[in-house]
Amino acid sequence: MSSLAVLNASQVITLAGPKRPRIGAELSELEIIRDGGMLVRDGKIERVGPSDEIEKDLGDAEVLDARGRVVMPGFVDAHTHLVFAGNRLEDFERRSRGETYEQIAKAGGGIWSTVEKTRAASEPDLLAQAKKHANWFLRCGTTTVEAKSGYGLTVEDELKILRVMRQLNASCRASDAIRESRIASTAPVRVDAAETEAGPEIVPTFLGAHAVSRGMSPDKYVELVITEMLPRVSAEKLAEFCDVFCERGYFDVDQSRKILSAAKKVGLSVRGHVDQLTNSGGAKLMAEMGATTADHLEQTDEQGIAALKKANVQPVLLPASVYALGLSRYPRAREMIEAGLGVVLATDFNPGSSPTPSMPMVLSLACTQMKMSPAEAVTASTVNAAYSLHRGDKIGSLEPGKLANFVIFDCEDYRELAYWFGMPHTHAVYIRGDRVLDSRER
Ligand code: NIG
Ligand code: FE
Repeated sequence: MSSLAVLNASQVITLAGPKRPRIGAELSELEIIRDGGMLVRDGKIERVGPSDEIEKDLGDAEVLDARGRVVMPGFVDAHTHLVFAGNRLEDFERRSRGETYEQIAKAGGGIWSTVEKTRAASEPDLLAQAKKHANWFLRCGTTTVEAKSGYGLTVEDELKILRVMRQLNASCRASDAIRESRIASTAPVRVDAAETEAGPEIVPTFLGAHAVSRGMSPDKYVELVITEMLPRVSAEKLAEFCDVFCERGYFDVDQSRKILSAAKKVGLSVRGHVDQLTNSGGAKLMAEMGATTADHLEQTDEQGIAALKKANVQPVLLPASVYALGLSRYPRAREMIEAGLGVVLATDFNPGSSPTPSMPMVLSLACTQMKMSPAEAVTASTVNAAYSLHRGDKIGSLEPGKLANFVIFDCEDYRELAYWFGMPHTHAVYIRGDRVLDSRER
């Protein structure tokens, strides 16, 4: 048995509450324990409470003093494009000269330029780059990352990206196997050294419909996604969700509907990039499809918000992409909260429109640009995000029975995460009770 006691935290942000996404005023209820503590056994949370209570019953637990620091659930980033090759520095520079995302894409930059680099990369090379990105997430305090394919756009290249995600997850499984062998006191399981490198848990999403592959008609490409990609992704169990970029110049509402319907038939849940640059009725389509999430929503109006509410779809808001594209129209977060939606915040980490893995930066943008409170932003990036990945029963809050995925931040009050922006706050990160990063390693 391995156990760990975290004591004396200035605040333990538990987010204890109903077993569903938090809505309305619930987003502000963090259930904070001042001078708090937590007992972790075999990778799971056993108790959370006042530090002096936890201290009475330490047993053989290793003690961790969190004096003057905040303890929180690890961030759950529910929308990223983690696996790609290279960067888009040329696009970045062009945007700084005033060109738009769509103009740059037409002129040879954009998603397509990352597709070319990603196709050219070997699987080991792509894995090495993905590990580097995954480590950036840990350093920002994120312990679970949804990751989309979408920079391959051929059957083999899309599968290559999804296999890289599977390999990234192998490290989590390896440390689980070690722990289980310890619990059963059998001989330690032998694992390859490369497999034990710690990283966040990856939740894979198939986004074959991210752009139309060059040289193909849109309809032919949609057919390829439906008849060849989706069956392989499903047969090899490479993804949990299917996503589509529903936007002018990418996939229209009818094409998106076809793809997502086919995805549901092979057992995938669905999400969608909708109403990002234009309001094309994407939010309504997500409602019609019974999607788990509708993401972006910068252009969504009140009818779209009402449709999401009626169908119980969680909105995933991505303010860092609005910021990085130099735009000013952020999604209507306040109206969504008032309408009773289980709002989620995520980074949209990708090399083009949102080159940041930082959830604290997203919290800052949520507060300053979308007028969410720091508490609402924390709920949206932890427990609500966990529900949007179908993991609300395991992660996203610090409650007995959940995985001990938590972060110790170098601040006394959680609001400092959004307030002191642009600087690292992470002191240490734990996944399933194992320390996977501490600030001395940065
Ligand atoms: O979420 N909107 C489409 N996909 C990404 C951008 C990807 C890219 O530019 O490489 C996004 O913003
Ligand atoms: Fe995205």
